[in-house]
Amino acid sequence: MMTTLAEWLAVQSVDSGLASVVASMAAASVDIAAILRTAPVAGQVGLVGRVNVQGEEQKQLDIISNDIVVKYLEQNPQVSILVSEELDEPLQLQNQGRYVVATDPLDGSSNLDVNVTVGTIFAILDAAGGLLQKGTAQLAAGYVAYGPATSLVLSFGPGVVVFTLDADGRYVLTDGHVQVPQASAEYAINTARERFWDDATKGYVAENVAGETGASGKRHNMRWVGSMVADVHRILMRGGIFLYPLDSETVSKGGRLRLLYEANPMAFLVEAAGGKATTGRQRLLDVMPTAIHQRVPVILGSAEEVARVEAWYAKG
Ligand code: AHG
Ligand code: MN
Ligand code: MN
Repeated sequence: MMTTLAEWLAVQSVDSGLASVVASMAAASVDIAAILRTAPVAGQVGLVGRVNVQGEEQKQLDIISNDIVVKYLEQNPQVSILVSEELDEPLQLQNQGRYVVATDPLDGSSNLDVNVTVGTIFAILDAAGGLLQKGTAQLAAGYVAYGPATSLVLSFGPGVVVFTLDADGRYVLTDGHVQVPQASAEYAINTARERFWDDATKGYVAENVAGETGASGKRHNMRWVGSMVADVHRILMRGGIFLYPLDSETVSKGGRLRLLYEANPMAFLVEAAGGKATTGRQRLLDVMPTAIHQRVPVILGSAEEVARVEAWYAKG
């Protein structure tokens, strides 16, 4: 029996308004997926010649994706505020709904030029708590990976599920119980940054490179897509660890990845699937945000691997 997202949402024991916000993000992602599929034909490629508030160059598709999310959330009376990577300030929507959405409308956009998986990440919060809430306060989190298949990965807390977009534009449940394997030998980190790393990161990665001749006692493998969505999706499906640690170059900014719409939703999903997520020194979901575009170190994935990194941080 096939279960669509709409059917699945209707039987969850969550507020129907919250479920409708998930449905709006899913609808936005269906439009984004369609645009991505033919963007080079339509000339929707390249930069727009502007930088966002974080000093990053915006691509046409970053803006188009953001506009699609705005359009769908404007239509949903349950949402009052949108926080987006592509919007300098929080966007007050026309409705006074109960929910806040934080989103990275197009993650990994540098991979667009080379036809490699990109994604949309989102978190849903109770508007009563304001914009700056710990990750533990998230009511739902999810992402959509635009890869060979378009996958919507979703959690309301306990449990993580995967829907796949079918040929008729409907999301169909394809995995009702995602579990991150506790152990893994696959790690993801941008090794070109090695000279900036702290001792804990250097120590952990050196052990992995040493493989069965080192302290971990097993051979490791490295994968780095450069789209957080794709790297985290691989980890949710088959285990592994993703690291974007604090390093000497990113230290003044607090890290590379953004807390509200990259780190927190991914940490929420990884924990809900039985994995762990940390800054190295603190559970990621316990970090109290002080700004909407705040950056944070991110280490997440299979529990045993994350614990190894934590042990390195505990040393110094
Ligand atoms: P975005 O495209 O939304 O700015 O995010 C890119 C992020 C993330 O997806 C990825 O893990 C990381 O940047 C890659 O960083 P490097 O370029 O340092 O590899
Ligand atoms: Mn991103
Ligand atoms: Mn982005």
